[in-house]
Amino acid sequence: MKTVNPLTFILMTLALCLATMSSAMADSDQLMPIQTPPSYQQECAACHIAYPPGMLPQNSWRQMMGDLENHYGTDASLDDETVKQLTQWLESHAGTYKRVAEAPPENRITRSKWFVRKHREVRPEVWRLDSVKSAANCAACHTGAERGEFDDDNLKFPTGLDSRSRRAWND
Ligand code: HEC
Ligand code: HEC
Repeated sequence: MKTVNPLTFILMTLALCLATMSSAMADSDQLMPIQTPPSYQQECAACHIAYPPGMLPQNSWRQMMGDLENHYGTDASLDDETVKQLTQWLESHAGTYKRVAEAPPENRITRSKWFVRKHREVRPEVWRLDSVKSAANCAACHTGAERGEFDDDNLKFPTGLDSRSRRAWND
């Protein structure tokens, strides 16, 4: 039998380990990248949760970061250095969520096709509950939203949710 050079063996084992690790990460329910700049939490999670960069395509992030003065009716502007750093980071992690393809209207996650499809059980009046107010308020229903966890094990019923919706969500 042909002997394998020990270095080759080590490299092969290492490659196998890395491959296993990355597929385990892809299967994980955690959508926030491990390396998140502190400025993202400080600046972009002040008014809402830190949305996972993978949920929007590059185009959307670029447009949004280019016009932070007019951010959904509010001023979210930052110094040039932070904008540059965050734009790079957002773009490099953009579009990793499997259903993200084209830029959604208004660069909204909540108007992406996959979002609408995943939330078809949520009736229009539910988004308007005082405990929810907006589809963008992910944490009203997803207890793991701050950590980037959106699977159905981490769902809660917002206050005032009717029994019909409760039954639908339990399935
Ligand atoms: C001053 C408050 C404020 C800051 C700071 C802020 N945002 Fe927002 N953001 C808003 C508001 C208000 C909305 C609209 C929410 C709604 O429709 O309910 C919004 C919406 C969004 C949405 C779309 C949500 C949807 O509907 O899918 C994204 C994405 C977003 N912000 C990203 C960011 C990023 C990235 C930063 C940091 C550069 C940031 N925001 C900083 C107030 C802010
Ligand atoms: C009014 C409550 C509510 C709000 C607000 C909400 N969701 Fe959901 N979300 C749900 C329900 C209910 C489901 C369906 C769970 C199921 O059927 O598996 C769901 C499903 C999802 C799924 C699919 C999970 C899976 O395992 O396939 C994702 C991803 C998700 N939501 C992300 C978000 C994000 C991001 C936001 C904020 C921008 C958000 N949701 C806001 C209630 C909500």
